[in-house]
Amino acid sequence: MSKLHITTTVNGDATEFLCETGMSLLDVLRDELALTGTKEGCGSGDCGACSVMLDGELVCSCLVLAAEVEGRRVETIEGMAADGELHPLQQKFLEHAALQCGFCTPGFLVAAKALLDVNPDPTETEVRYWLAGNLCRCTGYDKIIRAVLDAAAELRQERASA
Ligand code: FES
Ligand code: FES
Repeated sequence: MSKLHITTTVNGDATEFLCETGMSLLDVLRDELALTGTKEGCGSGDCGACSVMLDGELVCSCLVLAAEVEGRRVETIEGMAADGELHPLQQKFLEHAALQCGFCTPGFLVAAKALLDVNPDPTETEVRYWLAGNLCRCTGYDKIIRAVLDAAAELRQERASA
């Protein structure tokens, strides 16, 4: 079967790849572009481990066809740290010990950033609802929620003093 030639932007870089028509964005990110920070947990839209941004919208990359990203903008966990500096969310996850494995964490970070992009001052309840689609199998959610709220406070402070 002939492959599709896709031109897109990934983490700000112009990117091209070849894919089969049925390949998911998740498969292309991991297997063709070597961006293995995005994880496959379920492959069916239930766990959030594969979360990425597509034109500024949070999506499960396991449910997006790779061909759909033609001409669009994809952001993955690899694009979150900038200029060698961790994003405040990443820093707060470390400080609050909000992770135990690397499997769910990238998805939580991408999803939390998507929340703070649209709601810089969320309540705890809003954070819990927003992250309800991200499953963690090995820790409690409390540290994750605290880390997100703390990062939100830091980002607000940064903006206020900018
Ligand atoms: S791998 Fe996509 S939602 Fe679980
Ligand atoms: S810390 Fe890995 S599944 Fe939650």
